[in-house]
Amino acid sequence: MFTIENIAPDAPGVGSALDLIGSASHAVVLTGAGVSVESGIPDFRSPGGLWEIFSPDEYATYQVFENEPEKAWRLFRAIEEKLLPARPNPAHKALARLEDRGLLQAIITQNIDGLHQAAGSERVWEIHGDHQRLHCPVCDTVRTKRPGDYDAPEAREERGQTEYPCCDQCNHALKPNVVLFGEAVRDLESIVAELEPCDLLIVVGTSAHVAPSSNFPHAVKHRGGKVIEFNSEPTLLSGGEGGGLQWLIYGQQSSGPVTDYLFLGKAGETLPAVVELLT
Ligand code: APR
Repeated sequence: MFTIENIAPDAPGVGSALDLIGSASHAVVLTGAGVSVESGIPDFRSPGGLWEIFSPDEYATYQVFENEPEKAWRLFRAIEEKLLPARPNPAHKALARLEDRGLLQAIITQNIDGLHQAAGSERVWEIHGDHQRLHCPVCDTVRTKRPGDYDAPEAREERGQTEYPCCDQCNHALKPNVVLFGEAVRDLESIVAELEPCDLLIVVGTSAHVAPSSNFPHAVKHRGGKVIEFNSEPTLLSGGEGGGLQWLIYGQQSSGPVTDYLFLGKAGETLPAVVELLT
């Protein structure tokens, strides 16, 4: 595995990583919260991350939403507050440029912020759903967000509304159109099909803790593909946190990091620097 901190054309590993990106027949990108940190959205597991403030077991499971929707809505409002002012950062824009140049077939994102699309990326799979719409888990309707949906309960009740939005059809509590813990992820069949021909997976800003996304790099490697990672620190894929050294997937015991090239640094700086060199 090459760890690259200095993205100069003649720096060790940079040339071969660029060749991989330039010659891949079906490059796919997998992103996590780290790609949006420079847009002002905290990630989940870094110090000060969202899960430090709202424990996921206590706030982000489907069970909590079902039993105590008013509690789940406290988390939803806190997330909305961070997402509303967020705009695409240079990392999102660099990925959109890669797609423009035909060097990238699709993005699979675990993020719900819509920033890849806002940056101009067109083929985006939102495996954890999106925060721009509301979903009724009972009648499975999805509606666009309306002004006031995320307002504080008091403000909503002053307008004669329920403290959180309810379904127009069946009156059940609505949730953001996101995947809570305990719910099935979205578009998995299509995503697996997208990864079938993938010969290069570019992984950006994910700690690779959560399946099924955390298995995708292993699946690509298992089929002879390569993995290039952009992260501000080594992860389970690249030997960080004791991970990446032994991995058993698809019945095969393999050792060594899953990642072939790790660009260490802020994605908002490293990704544009790499895309610049590809021009
Ligand atoms: N540039 C690059 N990487 C970064 C940056 C940055 N500016 N800032 C943080 N990171 C990295 C962190 O080092 C970490 O590896 O991004 C990763 C963020 O990891 P998590 O907070 O675990 O977020 P993510 O991997 O997206 O979580 C996956 O878990 O809780 C669920 O649904 C939630 O979609 C989320 C899923």
